[in-house]
Amino acid sequence: MQRILIIDDEPSIRELLKDFLTGKGFEVVTASDGESGLNLLKEDKFDLLLLDLMMPGMNGMDVLREIASEKIDIPAIMITAYASVSTAVEAMKLGAFDYITKPFVLEDVHLAIKRALDVSRLQEENSRLKKELKKKFSTHKIIGNSLPLQEVIKFIEKIADTDSTVLVTGESGTGKELVAKTIHYNSPRARSTFVPLNCAAIPKDILESELFGHEKGAFTGAVTTRIGRFELANNGTLFLDEIGELAPSLQVKLLRVLQEKEFERVGGIKTIKVDVRIIAATNRDLEKAVKDGTFREDLYYRLNVIPLHLPPLRKMKEDVPLLIEHFIIEISKRKKKEPPKISHETMSYLANYRWPGNVRELENLIERLIILKEGDYITPDELPERFLENRHTPKVVTKSKLLSSEGVDLNVVLDELENNMIIQALEMSKGVKSKAASLLGLNRTTLIEKMKKKSIDFHTKTVE
Ligand SMILES: Nc1ncnc2c1ncn2[C@@H]1O[C@H](COP(=O)(O)OP(=O)(O)OP(=O)(O)O)[C@@H](O)[C@H]1O
Ligand SMILES: [Mg+2]
Repeated sequence: MQRILIIDDEPSIRELLKDFLTGKGFEVVTASDGESGLNLLKEDKFDLLLLDLMMPGMNGMDVLREIASEKIDIPAIMITAYASVSTAVEAMKLGAFDYITKPFVLEDVHLAIKRALDVSRLQEENSRLKKELKKKFSTHKIIGNSLPLQEVIKFIEKIADTDSTVLVTGESGTGKELVAKTIHYNSPRARSTFVPLNCAAIPKDILESELFGHEKGAFTGAVTTRIGRFELANNGTLFLDEIGELAPSLQVKLLRVLQEKEFERVGGIKTIKVDVRIIAATNRDLEKAVKDGTFREDLYYRLNVIPLHLPPLRKMKEDVPLLIEHFIIEISKRKKKEPPKISHETMSYLANYRWPGNVRELENLIERLIILKEGDYITPDELPERFLENRHTPKVVTKSKLLSSEGVDLNVVLDELENNMIIQALEMSKGVKSKAASLLGLNRTTLIEKMKKKSIDFHTKTVE
């Protein structure tokens, strides 16, 4: 139940408000002067304060000053006689949320309270979100040593502390959101909020009010005024994800905000100015969408001030082991599990996979492997079928390994070849290691060492 504190020296007003608000489902506590009211505020938690301005002794303004200096976080609504409206305006400068004039209509008091509670809920949510994102970012770093990724990181460093709009493109799961957060948290806007909005996930008819907010009564169901993501992101960054899905009518409205830096809430007439940096992302080819006429050309150029393209994982094969190591540590910590090791053979299957789902697919795979793992090592048997397409035809694999224009990682190829040969030798010699060793021109201890290093142990198991 939400709790309201009323501080007013007039007993009749205290009683009237208390009865009315109790009837509306609030828990109401009253105080007859500023000092005792303040004591209650310091000792107890309230969601809202109704504060009379004119009181003998400590008046409403004094109470507000004290609230500010004690850093008590509570929305306050001032109650004032019509004659002292100018003081009420002063009070709002001191941080009061709203004021109502005496004599008042009870229903107006109720509405003012609902509005204040709604805004304070949003602010709380905002600060919770902010904390969460900060936390997330500190554990989410961009990992990768490959040339394409190093270029991306250098580029981010260069552009982070500008205010320019960035358009992040790349296939699904390549890290577009991670990059957007990294830009925000490495910019002077880091102290304000990073507000994400997925344009594809929110139904078209409510997206406009999500973006710009709405005034009370703007449409059926708009019982209170709500601020939108643009206002929430003021002084911060607004991340417009899947921008390619934005409906044409909203494309026009977004274009205007980008040009003028101002807008109106849905159903509102007041023009609201904001200072927001936009980072947009899409996995669609926007240039093609412009040609097809589904995306406005002028909006495209407004968004594409700084284009940033993220490479797919299959172009950064050398980063696969690094990413695996990173996710093993992160996910094991999160799941409170012992981090497993990955055998060489498993690693070579993973490095040579095409990764249609990119880093997200890799992250999900590692999570699944950690949950399902049986021993200390993750062996190829534990990988889903699609990773093992060439598993039982080692000869064909090695023969067909022609150098393609994309290039190969020679170490991975050699490692794979070595694995295959060892496994074949073990198969031919039915697991007798000295026989297998002589087939390979190795002595027995060297073979055993290699098997250990590559964690080839499942084969002896099958033989026995
Ligand atoms: N280079 C990287 N280093 C570490 N983690 C990464 C990297 N790239 C992506 N990730 C992680 O992979 C997951 C997917 O990334 P993200 O959500 O940013 O991708 P996206 O491009 O926005 O995908 P989608 O288009 O599907 O929305 C996230 O958990 C992210 O932290
Ligand atoms: Mg995304």
